[in-house]
Amino acid sequence: MKFSASVLATLLAVVSSVSAAAISPLSPDVSVAGTEEYTHTLERRATGDATWYDVQAGYTACGMLVKNTSYTVAVSAARYDATKVDGNPNNNKICGRKIRVRGPLRTLDGFVRDRCAGCKYDDVDLSPTLFQQIVGPLGIGRRQITWDYV
Ligand SMILES: *[C@@H]1O[C@H](CO)[C@@H](O)[C@H](O)[C@H]1NC(C)=O
Repeated sequence: MKFSASVLATLLAVVSSVSAAAISPLSPDVSVAGTEEYTHTLERRATGDATWYDVQAGYTACGMLVKNTSYTVAVSAARYDATKVDGNPNNNKICGRKIRVRGPLRTLDGFVRDRCAGCKYDDVDLSPTLFQQIVGPLGIGRRQITWDYV
């Protein structure tokens, strides 16, 4: 099959715009400014590992007692600490934020209620129930996911 020069040019333009979009950097930074709202855009989608932990082991960093069956998410210490408002971690602005996690099994929304000391910047530590529903059996332990604020 032969393509005319203009068809080829169009195809090349499409291909180069797609690859440019694919390599554009994510902007995962959570804004700290009090008046700024988070926006829900593709550019803000983060890719990291999901793990799980016993959320019933004690108070969360947000100062809550929650159940394993709750849709609880711990974000990385780096993210958590970036949104602190004072010396009391319970007052952190990120507490209660809803995030949408996309995993191999399904996409579900959870709520930030904790701080994950062992997480890399874009990792999320999930309640056992959330991990099971998004990723699969707890024995999997760790799996790459994507997530963003909603
Ligand atoms: C919460 O779930 C984890 C993982 O299944 C388990 O080890 C832990 O005992 C559970 N905690 C409670 C209080 O049931």
